[in-house]
Amino acid sequence: MTTMNNFPKDIYANRRARLAEIMLRKSDGGVLVLETAPEHFRNRDSDFPYRHDSDFYYLTGFTEPGATLVMMVDKKSCKTIIFCRPKDLEREIWDGWRLGPEAAPVQLGVDQAFAQSELDNLMPDFLADQPAIYSRLGSEGPLQNQLKNWLHKVKGMSRSGASTPNRIEDVEAMIHEMRLFKDSHEVNIMRTAGKIAADGHISAMKASKPGLREYHLEASLLYSFRNAGAQSVAYNSIVAGGANACVLHHRAGNAELKDGDLCLIDAGCELDGYASDITRTFPVNGKFSGPQRAIYDIVLAAQEAAIAVTKMGFDFQAPHDAALKVLTQGLLDLNLLDKKTIGGLDNALETKAYQRFYMHRTSHWLGMDVHDVGNYREPGSSTKPKAWRSLKPNMVLTIEPGLYIRKADDVNPQYWDIGIRIEDDALVTNGECELMSRGVPVKADEIEYLMKKSS
Ligand code: GLY
Ligand code: MN
Ligand code: MN
Repeated sequence: MTTMNNFPKDIYANRRARLAEIMLRKSDGGVLVLETAPEHFRNRDSDFPYRHDSDFYYLTGFTEPGATLVMMVDKKSCKTIIFCRPKDLEREIWDGWRLGPEAAPVQLGVDQAFAQSELDNLMPDFLADQPAIYSRLGSEGPLQNQLKNWLHKVKGMSRSGASTPNRIEDVEAMIHEMRLFKDSHEVNIMRTAGKIAADGHISAMKASKPGLREYHLEASLLYSFRNAGAQSVAYNSIVAGGANACVLHHRAGNAELKDGDLCLIDAGCELDGYASDITRTFPVNGKFSGPQRAIYDIVLAAQEAAIAVTKMGFDFQAPHDAALKVLTQGLLDLNLLDKKTIGGLDNALETKAYQRFYMHRTSHWLGMDVHDVGNYREPGSSTKPKAWRSLKPNMVLTIEPGLYIRKADDVNPQYWDIGIRIEDDALVTNGECELMSRGVPVKADEIEYLMKKSS
């Protein structure tokens, strides 16, 4: 968590106030209960690095495990209560410092705080006489069971006149709609995360040479991310040499990076809870072959076409459609799609003939989660299926076309095992989108120049 002195309490308080307004618009308010993520053990006495829950963090900025946010909202007020781990000298000697409920109100800017162990005692009273509970429906973990027990206890209080909430509302959709539009605090962090990730890609490109292994370049990325202050990777890094690039979620392994092969790196860091997500594909030896360059330039042209429509006035599907057109025309031009059997561009698009070489979508929302939350369709749309989401300022999405050409009898061998993806992170603005990840070269000539300089 951000240190005591510069913890931006107001940002989280404003988000909670906005959520409270949404709860009031939805109904008469009620009680929100939102728990953070559990800890996960790796094996005996060793745990996975702890990662807070993104929704919980969005509303609190609090990164400790064992915490629950409660908001009591009515027309007159919004009271915020944090349940957190109590101070415990013994545990703090072993596991580290805890904020504790005594310090939490001042540090986090909440109204009250209690030890997490008080949750079961206090929640029935908090829920009495409230119109609704706001929680994540269907979430895993103990909360669903706890809610049932709390409601049971409130019902038992009815003889003393208490009424029981008669609705449970899913708060997730409300928070996720807020998270879809990044505020300036988030945009600033994401810009820095994009820069750190771009620098990491540069260091990996510079380090590349035949004979190294995929894990060497992964090490270079990790060093770069951590050395710049990023807390973690945003997802497991993909470092894929040669044919491995045609495996979409290949993990960096011990495959040798061979002279004449390409290397695809899809890697991003997590900075202060926010993800970056960049893919670059480059020649292991610093120089694209003719066939590699031909495919590379098609993918780059597809990305440029998608970038051009990543703006207001277009919807979420527009970049995908723009990329598909360029990729499919490129496949026809190189005879990777057979014009005689498939016909022209329109038919190739109609029949999805490109899917053999391009099987994923071009974009996803990006934010605290790498595949971030937010509806891809207009929530209010009456068409079936609902209309694609219109792009609006402060949405952030990736633009990541690719082509993956596996060995096959009907494929020209000069293209075998070429897998190329190019991915950048775009902030939608009032004008052209802002690419937050372009600190790393993307044009083939620029990549070759960078790699030549460092060899
Ligand atoms: N790195 C996962 C993705 O690009 O979606
Ligand atoms: Mn992505
Ligand atoms: Mn990616």
